Amino acid sequence: MIAIGADHGGYELKEEIKKYLDGKGIEYKDYGTYSPESVDYAAIAYKVGTAITSGECERGILCCGTGIGISMAANKVKGIRAACCSDYFSAKFTRLHNDANILCMGGRVVGAGLALEMVEVFLNTGFEGGRHQRRVDQIMAIQDGTFEAE
Ligand code: RB5
Repeated sequence: MIAIGADHGGYELKEEIKKYLDGKGIEYKDYGTYSPESVDYAAIAYKVGTAITSGECERGILCCGTGIGISMAANKVKGIRAACCSDYFSAKFTRLHNDANILCMGGRVVGAGLALEMVEVFLNTGFEGGRHQRRVDQIMAIQDGTFEAE
C-alpha cells in the first residue's frame, strides 16, 4: 500500500499520480488534500509519514508547490527518509543508496510526465544495502541522538 498526499500546490500532480497508480493497479491511500483550496502541508506530511512508520503503508509520495516544505515536515517524523526529487536519477538513487521511504515532488517544479517516471522508478527500485546500510544507520543515529562523530 502506497500513502499519497499533497497540499494545494501539489494537488493536481497528486491527482495525476493517482490516475497512474489506478492504471497500474497499485493500491494507495490518499491522505488529502482533496481540493485545490489552500491548506497547510505539515498535517499532510505527518499523516503520510505516520502511515509508513505505523506499518500501514510501505512507501509514500508527497507533493507540494516545490516538494521542499512537505519533505522537511515528513523528515521530522521519526523513521522517515523523505527525498525531494526533480530528476529521474535522484529518484532512482535515493532508493538504491538512501532507502528513502517517501518521494517528494513539486507540482510547480516538475511536469506530470517526469513525475510519473520518477514514481515508477521510486516504487520499483530496491535498496542496495552494503556500505549504504551503514550510512543510512548513521542518518538514523543522528535522528535518535546516538550518533558519535569521529
Ligand atoms: C504553498 O504556496 C507552498 O509554499 C507549498 O506548496 C510548498 O511549496 C512549500 O514548500
